[in-house]
Amino acid sequence: MAAGVSSRMNTKLPKVLHEVTGRPMLAYVLDACRSVGVSRIYVVVGFGAEQVRERFAAESADIVWVPQPQQLGTAHAVMCCKEHLQGFDGQTLVLCGDGPLIRAKTLQTLIEKHEAGQSAATLATAVLEDPTGYGRIIRDDYGNIQGIVEDSDCTPAQRAVKEVNPSYYLFNNQVLLRALEQVKPDNVKKEYYLTDALSVIIATGHKVIAVTAVRPEEAVGVNSRAQLSVASKIMQHRVQQELMENGVTIVDPDNTWIDARAKIGQDTVIEPFVYIQGEVKIGRGCRIGPFAFLRDGSVLQDDVVLGVFTEIKNATLADGVRARHHSYLGDADIGRNVNIGAGSITANFDGEQINRTMVGDDCYIGSGAVLIAPLMLKAGARIGAGTVVAQEDADKLGEKG
Ligand code: UD1
Ligand code: CA
Repeated sequence: MAAGVSSRMNTKLPKVLHEVTGRPMLAYVLDACRSVGVSRIYVVVGFGAEQVRERFAAESADIVWVPQPQQLGTAHAVMCCKEHLQGFDGQTLVLCGDGPLIRAKTLQTLIEKHEAGQSAATLATAVLEDPTGYGRIIRDDYGNIQGIVEDSDCTPAQRAVKEVNPSYYLFNNQVLLRALEQVKPDNVKKEYYLTDALSVIIATGHKVIAVTAVRPEEAVGVNSRAQLSVASKIMQHRVQQELMENGVTIVDPDNTWIDARAKIGQDTVIEPFVYIQGEVKIGRGCRIGPFAFLRDGSVLQDDVVLGVFTEIKNATLADGVRARHHSYLGDADIGRNVNIGAGSITANFDGEQINRTMVGDDCYIGSGAVLIAPLMLKAGARIGAGTVVAQEDADKLGEKG
């Protein structure tokens, strides 16, 4: 479900396109579905549908986009898929596009419990210290689920319940479709609630299981910018955790930001205040920072050293490149063991277009050099401190040897 207008986010961008560590929220939900082997993915889109589709154009081969012209609630969103689902006799997983912290492992547990328990519907729940805003799981004295009550419809006693609905559901598809027909918008918001479909399923005597399988930090649904920042922080922790498991040293995790798409090799050390944004690849044994900014499209091979206030954008740095202080290398290919002196930069933008700089292996670039692109420096060239180098100068360099 990804059709909702997000009034609480106060945004013109569809909510599911807001980014968490560099990727739109919806991308994480799709990943989770794919990794548990979901065979067909329907994404319900409404507000900003075109934008959502465009953003996912390159990775949408297995997606069927389903329009929900008016956002009448989560049950209505699922109902919009009716024509696609009605002939299907299997299980249907229903998830929210604004829950980026979902883990494939949790979905796997959900599927296992559902199959083992032969239930008509299974949902995974979480217990939160502060359940405000979430649907509450109401159980009877035996622990059986009786239904879900939305925050805005709770009695004071129900509001005190800490077990919540993170919106991870697995349904017997036919049971789901029949229940959806009976959902009425009898609530404070006058919406068709998917949570009410569960009450219908329970009331008609079907088996419904609620398993407390979602860790609190995984349950965060993003309805506001504040929650977006909470989700980003949690995701950042996960990204760094995985990198550390893969042999990367992160000296000060709280003061480091690494995009979820970044790849970093073994024994590379990330010093404090490093910001890695976009698809960045860093090899083994590199030392990055403190205070380095690596942007989209940067590829660092092995043993590269980047120091303070070094910015790299869309550039390839071969093995052993050193740029220790105050440099900008944008749209460049820097050869092996090149030394970039303090304050040296590529002047990659001529006011109209972006041009590329190529620096051959073993070049020595002194401090404060300006390399005016397009430029190609032959291997072994030495550029003195404070030099402004254009291609014609570089050609003369060749003549002098
Ligand atoms: C929903 C659940 C709530 C749960 C919470 C978990 C319902 C009624 N409530 O509440 O129990 O605790 O998620 O995060 O389901 N959407 C559509 N079409 C619509 C309405 C919503 O596609 O007509 C999409 C939204 O874009 C969003 C998702 O469904 O991705 C959930 O909708 P939202 O309005 O965020 O529901 P919550 O109030 O968070
Ligand atoms: Ca939500």
